[in-house]
Amino acid sequence: MIRVCFVCLGNICRSPMAEFVFKDMVKKDNLEDKISVLSRGTSDEELGNPVHAGTIRELERHHIPYTSRYATQLKKEDYDSFDYFISVDSLNSRLMRNIFIHDNCLKIHRLLDFTSLKKDIADPWYTGNFEITYQEIELGCRSFLDYLKEKENI
Ligand code: 4NP
Repeated sequence: MIRVCFVCLGNICRSPMAEFVFKDMVKKDNLEDKISVLSRGTSDEELGNPVHAGTIRELERHHIPYTSRYATQLKKEDYDSFDYFISVDSLNSRLMRNIFIHDNCLKIHRLLDFTSLKKDIADPWYTGNFEITYQEIELGCRSFLDYLKEKENI
C-alpha cells in the first residue's frame, strides 16, 4: 500500500480538499487497494474543527464525495506512517521539515511541483477564492497520480 498524506496549515481548507479529490481519482482508477489517502495540518489553529464551508461547496459543485472529518495536526511520529507527504505550499514543506527534524525528509513534495506551474497554492482562508484552489488541486492531484503510477509501477 502506498500511503499518501496531504498537508496544509489548518487542515480545514486545502489539504482536506486534496484528500477528497485524490480519493475520488484513486477510486475511479480502481487503485483503492494500492493507494491510501489522508490529510493533516502543520498548525494547531483549527484542531478538531470541521472542513471549511468553502471547501465543501467546491467538492459539491464538482460532485466529489466527502465524509465528515475534523482537523488533525501532523506529529513527528507520523513520518513512518506515510510514504508521501504532499504539501500545498513551500511554507508547509518547511514547517514539516521542522516537525520531522530528525528525519531526512525525502518523503516531502509540494503538490504543484508535479505540474508545470511549480508554485504554491494560495490559502483560500485568506483569499476567499476556493474556486482557483479547486482548479489547482485538481491539476496537481492528476499530475501526482500520473507520477505515482509510473514511479510505483501500478
Ligand atoms: P488551510 O487554511 O491551511 O488551507 O486549512 C487555513 C485555515 C485556517 C488557518 C490558516 C489557514 N488559521 O490560521 O486558522
